[in-house]
Amino acid sequence: MKNMPKWLGEAIFYQIYPQSFYDSNGDGIGDINGITAKLDYIQASGFNALWINPCFASPFKDAGYDVADYFKVAPRYGTNEDLCRLFEEAHKRGIHVLLDLVPGHTSDKCRWFKQSALPARNRYSDRYIWSNSAWERPQGYSWVTGNADRDGSYMLNFFVGQPALNYGFNKITDDRWQISYKDKRVKGTLNAMMKVMRFWLDKGADGFRVDMADSLVKNDEDKSATASLWRKVRKMLDRDYPEAVLISEWCNAPRSINLAGFHGDFLLHHGDKLTDYAFYRQNEQGSSAYFCKTAHVSARDMLRRYVEELNATKDNGYICVISGNHDVVRLSNFLDDSELPLAFVFLLTLPGAPFVYYGDEIGMRYIPQPSKEGGYHRTGSRTPMQWDSAQTNAGFSVADRKKLYLDIDRTDNAPCVRDQMQRQNSLWQVVRALNNLRHEIPCLQADASFEVLECGDGGVLCYARGGGIAVAFNPTDTQQTMNTIVSDKIFELGSATVQNGVTVLAPQTAVIFRI
Ligand code: GLC
Ligand code: CA
Repeated sequence: MKNMPKWLGEAIFYQIYPQSFYDSNGDGIGDINGITAKLDYIQASGFNALWINPCFASPFKDAGYDVADYFKVAPRYGTNEDLCRLFEEAHKRGIHVLLDLVPGHTSDKCRWFKQSALPARNRYSDRYIWSNSAWERPQGYSWVTGNADRDGSYMLNFFVGQPALNYGFNKITDDRWQISYKDKRVKGTLNAMMKVMRFWLDKGADGFRVDMADSLVKNDEDKSATASLWRKVRKMLDRDYPEAVLISEWCNAPRSINLAGFHGDFLLHHGDKLTDYAFYRQNEQGSSAYFCKTAHVSARDMLRRYVEELNATKDNGYICVISGNHDVVRLSNFLDDSELPLAFVFLLTLPGAPFVYYGDEIGMRYIPQPSKEGGYHRTGSRTPMQWDSAQTNAGFSVADRKKLYLDIDRTDNAPCVRDQMQRQNSLWQVVRALNNLRHEIPCLQADASFEVLECGDGGVLCYARGGGIAVAFNPTDTQQTMNTIVSDKIFELGSATVQNGVTVLAPQTAVIFRI
């Protein structure tokens, strides 16, 4: 793909929620050195890229998405030097590292915001969006009043501790307090964010996952103004950091990739998206997800929109399909142990850059529990990684149980890394095998074409990748047939056999073969 860092086309990402991955110093909280200590595991699992959730100084009212200092690693995770060492150690193993950039808002504890909240005009006065007076809270937005001496209300971008940075408005409806996205003060905000990016890129980061990337310019219905700002960022990267990558949380690939210039966009679990059809969808009878063995649904609806977006963004960037993330209920809550491996065959054989959320590779469970750091229902997907069930706190931390960031999963037979590495046919073994296949075979990687060969009413799906490889599924609990003949198999779950000129797919079969 033109104008695209080559490494991204070969990347399989692993998302790490740092506080829950591995605690290297026994204080109960995962940390940067803990990630470095586990790089060999990440590499052994077949991942060659990381995205780390925000690891910067923060009051943690939204798990770090409320950044107080963009230039400083949160003390609970370590130091800037630790993060630089992680970059170095990762690079030694051929692993690229994306940090999490939160450009739309800061914490209300950020120095920029404290300055902005002062009554006397200063260079940060317009860094955030303020209404005209403390008594005005214009409709259509969320505001905080009475929390600053400045005579104004400030706009929120998310939770109450996350004031919106000011990137201006596209359509201005009240010029007493709204500025245009073309205003030079907006340039100031954007430049500040580019400075943050340069700071970490200079230290060895390989790019950023960009939080709420579509949220910058307000009253920007078609997102054209927001996109124009991102194109400036992309220009800066192409000029000064051509190997750096930006992946957006936008969930609109044509806009993010074609208009805004992102290298990739997440396909999140929104109602009409591929992963919703594949993993989560429910009806009155229960799960109607494609990979639910009793659902027996055609893959047609699941693929329609995805293929449209894939075609629309071809040659410009990648759709990033995810196994889950820190915002959604874990995959294993929706698919059982017999269904999960097939779901991973799908995830890891699609074009673009796949992302696996830490722990999903061993089927870690969703553990409902009280909210932590603004997690609410999301907290259950953020519990510590389970390394070894025979060790204290499953090997996550040697700290006292009460001091853990969140308690580990203590349900019966909670999955753990050690067991799955030792056990044949475990989910981890499947994920590792698929990752390795993807690395070996360019036809399975990001750029190779995707062409549906068969899509039956009963659930059979067969697609070709790059003209050289095909992948076939029968996710259901009954035997099915397809016309495409499976010959040169390179990976198989269940069984695919040729009988009387058709291929018979046993229940719950996934097969990868050469064509
Ligand atoms: C994104 C993050 C989420 C966070 C929100 C506000 O959606 O993924 O965790 O709460 O943005 O920054
Ligand atoms: Ca620690």
